Amino acid sequence: MMDAATLRARCAAKIAARKVGHFQDRPWLYEAFLTVPREHFVPDVVWWPVQDDTGLFPVLDRTAAPDPWLKAVYDPRTPLITQIADGAVRPEDGPTDRADFTSSISCAAVVVDMLHHLDPQEPDRVLEIGTGTGYSAALLSHRVRADQVVTVEISPELADHADRKLHDMGVRPLVVTGDGEQGWAARAPYDRVLSTVAVRRVPQAWLDQTTAGGTILTPLDTPFGHEALLRLVTDGKGGAEGNLVTGVSFMKTRAQRPPRPYAELGWPTWTEYRVTVRDGTQRIWAPRE
Ligand SMILES: C[S@@+](CC[C@H](N)C(=O)[O-])C[C@H]1O[C@@H](n2cnc3c(N)ncnc32)[C@H](O)[C@@H]1O
Repeated sequence: MMDAATLRARCAAKIAARKVGHFQDRPWLYEAFLTVPREHFVPDVVWWPVQDDTGLFPVLDRTAAPDPWLKAVYDPRTPLITQIADGAVRPEDGPTDRADFTSSISCAAVVVDMLHHLDPQEPDRVLEIGTGTGYSAALLSHRVRADQVVTVEISPELADHADRKLHDMGVRPLVVTGDGEQGWAARAPYDRVLSTVAVRRVPQAWLDQTTAGGTILTPLDTPFGHEALLRLVTDGKGGAEGNLVTGVSFMKTRAQRPPRPYAELGWPTWTEYRVTVRDGTQRIWAPRE
């Protein structure tokens, strides 16, 4: 079996080879990915997110079977589930048919894509919503100074785990246990806000706590049948403009789990979308208001 560093390098090579891979023009990101040990942040027992023949989500146990566990950690396209039903189902209980996943370490390729689009710069102050394992906070801390990074996690158990793991590595971003939809006003304003949890509506606190010309990147539920990564540039006055950069799939913030009618969320009605086809590429546009 290959060691973690070799698997990490192979995982990076696979991401770099993707047609839409996003290490491009981001040497800092490639370097951070190769430096931060993803395996350090993954709990010893996690669920694989694909049901087996019996309809159960299998567990991967680092102690019982270290090789499959490590291989899964470096599978570029697969997230690993770290919490189900807000912790009511425990990994130690074994395989489960419960699909109400509430935390995961996002797949490596998606983490890279998100950081590509966020593109934090050296002196930036960064707010992350959804600390989870602490892995993306470690990558952010590698890019900007760790004391410029605040990461908010709603589950106290997960926040503790992440804080411990970051601390073990000597990396000290501020890990806050709380509702990230409120942002973290005490350290505002931020130049970059990264949410690694999806919303149906962008919380006003994120807009209010971001500088003029700052970036907010978040998975957003859409009426297109799946979520999309929304990249907003803020005006420093509580407003922002931006676009959907790619399709993604994420769990929702706790308060925004229940579906809401899209019209109520401010989406235009279906008849207002326009389709253009150019050079074989089909694009669907929403009108600018
Ligand atoms: C996909 S995971 C984040 C992965 C994480 N960035 C990592 O590197 O492991 C989403 C996380 O968002 C958290 N979450 C959900 N609602 C939240 C909220 N309102 N505020 C803060 N965290 C929230 C969940 O508990 C979960 O841990």
